[in-house]
Amino acid sequence: MKLQGRAALITGAGSGIGRATAELFASEGAGVAILDRDASAAGATASAISATGAEAHPVVADVSSSEEISHAVASATRLLGRLDIVYNNAGVGSTGSVVDATEEDWDRCFAVNAKGTYLTSQAAIPHLEAAGGGSIINQASVAALVGIQGFAAYCAAKGAVVSLTRAMAIDLAPMGIRVNALCPGTVYTPLMEPLMRERGGGSIERGLEITAAKYPIGRLGTPVEIANAALFLASDAASFVTGTVFTVDGGMTAQ
Ligand SMILES: NC(=O)c1ccc[n+]([C@@H]2O[C@H](COP(=O)([O-])OP(=O)(O)OC[C@H]3O[C@@H](n4cnc5c(N)ncnc54)[C@H](O)[C@@H]3O)[C@@H](O)[C@H]2O)c1
Repeated sequence: MKLQGRAALITGAGSGIGRATAELFASEGAGVAILDRDASAAGATASAISATGAEAHPVVADVSSSEEISHAVASATRLLGRLDIVYNNAGVGSTGSVVDATEEDWDRCFAVNAKGTYLTSQAAIPHLEAAGGGSIINQASVAALVGIQGFAAYCAAKGAVVSLTRAMAIDLAPMGIRVNALCPGTVYTPLMEPLMRERGGGSIERGLEITAAKYPIGRLGTPVEIANAALFLASDAASFVTGTVFTVDGGMTAQ
């Protein structure tokens, strides 16, 4: 029970890594707010967690809208009674190199991945401070650390998340709020489908094989392996950890 009595807001928790993290945090004693722009996905995650007897509330908002996210963070805090942990996990992919990525893709990628992290954190900080401090985890990616072919806007937006994390860690340390970036390697979720299909010349299976070969560990990651890293950063076990970039990638960026 590493998060007993804590309250956590997880964005993009209707699917993939966010859902696995919400389930893990709840099993470790936290009350969780399941924020997603997809109402039925948020509801499904919250119902599955509530069925285990843990506290979970679905909250619907688009993290790139300052109005929606400020209401959603306030409502999540009211429902949970406090706020100690924020996992800025919601994100979207984008395919295309700098030659062919569209301006629309670039703007959407930055609006959700980078601006969404800033807006959600800004709305949450007064509540974290009121709780006496807390932990913010910003979901970056190995795409922030190395170039990935055909993924230009995504690499740039996740790079922005890493830089924002360092600035936030310094600004928020006096408030007792730790801020860290998490850089997962590839985990097969709905977000990765377009990239896998493109990489596999139309075959997702082939794309997955080609991708796994880039990983020294010989396979992709799983959502729960990323959730375990988020759990460490959220918990008191990481009480002296702030401003860091925590890579969980089966050795991909060590090459
Ligand atoms: N899957 C990977 O290989 C991988 C690797 C590195 C980093 N990441 C990052 O991890 C995070 C989660 O990815 P995933 O693979 O679990 O994706 P996913 O597509 O399975 O889940 C993302 C969730 O975020 C929600 N979402 C998207 N835009 C939103 C918005 N504007 N407001 C609120 N909710 C929104 C979606 O509805 C979805 O439920 C993303 O930030 C992604 O960039 C994923």
